[in-house]
Amino acid sequence: MAATNDVSTLDILLLGSGGREHALACKLAASPRCGKLYIAPGNGGTVAVGENVSLDAEDPAAVADFACETGCGLVVIGPEAPLVVGVADAVREAGIPCFGPGAAGAQMEGSKLFSKQVMGRAGVPTAAYGSFTDEESALAYVREQGAPLVVKADGLAAGKGVIVATELAQAEEAVHECFSGTFGDAGSTVVIEEMLTGPECSLLAFTDGRCVRPMDTSQDHKRALEGDLGPNTGGMGVYSPVPIVTDEEHAEMVRIMEATVAELAAEGIDYRGCLYGGFMLTPAGPKVLEFNARFGDPETQVILPRLENDLVEVMLACAEQRLDDVELSWRPEYAVSVVLTSAGYPGSYEKGKVITGIEDAEAMDDVTVYHAGTRMDDEGRVLTNGGRVLNVTALAPTFEAARDLAYEACEKIDFEGKTLRHDIGLRALRGREAWD
Ligand code: AMP
Ligand code: GLY
Repeated sequence: MAATNDVSTLDILLLGSGGREHALACKLAASPRCGKLYIAPGNGGTVAVGENVSLDAEDPAAVADFACETGCGLVVIGPEAPLVVGVADAVREAGIPCFGPGAAGAQMEGSKLFSKQVMGRAGVPTAAYGSFTDEESALAYVREQGAPLVVKADGLAAGKGVIVATELAQAEEAVHECFSGTFGDAGSTVVIEEMLTGPECSLLAFTDGRCVRPMDTSQDHKRALEGDLGPNTGGMGVYSPVPIVTDEEHAEMVRIMEATVAELAAEGIDYRGCLYGGFMLTPAGPKVLEFNARFGDPETQVILPRLENDLVEVMLACAEQRLDDVELSWRPEYAVSVVLTSAGYPGSYEKGKVITGIEDAEAMDDVTVYHAGTRMDDEGRVLTNGGRVLNVTALAPTFEAARDLAYEACEKIDFEGKTLRHDIGLRALRGREAWD
């Protein structure tokens, strides 16, 4: 094993294609330990920091073979789908350190029921729930409990499998939708939860399966429209740290993350990677809404710019079970990131629009533009290639200044159909009362 002061480089394979992966790629490439960086498949931004490669990221054998053939010394898995199908297991079996849990650990995200059961055994606070594999019993439970309720398809449903139902008819409709196959296999088991209230807060943590190193807090804005209205999206904007969290709430969230990893270890699950805790800060204290088995997107785009550590060192420490040796440190500035989307997102939208002004925005001090749904054409122009197109991240000494800077940078960028929320971080700026 390499000593921690060894400055030899290693080649790295990163899987994924979103803004999260562009942020991961930038941070990995900034490390003196990073040799060649491959991103599979990458996007129009990752080409500037590494080599985009065409590889089926959800084929465990193909990923392990590629990493072996190219002599990679670390594989980093960005999205959930490769984790759930066991890409990390295949990479580790091939003898290559991997950042990301195996298929067993990835069930924390891949099955809402599995994660609720782990939470139950770990004694972790979460919403009361029932789980069902047939529509009739689910409907009976819904009618017995009454609205409001939250109906969740068990499996991965690209963020669409959660319905917050304020009316009984909505909950019944959601149950029907899950069992009618709208979410494919993901909906064959349904979890129905009590509805919690309060501000949401994410706490991501690095872990090697034993030691847990929490990152700083962050908060996403999931709804498409200003005022937290409209359909859920992959995330429209985010900030870090979350100024409204009390010290007691923070300590409780950290305790919950530690208790969860300890429970997984006790159950024989060797979880090495990022565990993402999605919390609601309820009047009765923080409760878990969900766990993800990976970095958040767009949370990563505000967390990594604030991380002072060498990311290659931290990820290797997770993969090689020596995270105990690592202390994380954070830049004191606030980070705010605004997502620029294609008109129509999260519904249908057009692609292939020429994007201008990225260089002007990046020329501003403390502004970084992470690419999400973009691609570079043969002439070197950057084109829109997805619903979430760019993440404009700004750092500043105060929350308000970071917000202002991010929005100023957004104005420099243009493409046909450019859409954004103008109220990212506004509630946090107004204080905790804004959630009452
Ligand atoms: P999840 O994917 O489970 O985090 O759910 C997506 C979003 O649905 C969360 O970010 C919350 O806004 C909302 N949500 C999930 N579970 C609950 C709950 N039990 N009570 C209230 N809102 C919830
Ligand atoms: N931003 C929410 C997620 O990554 O799941």
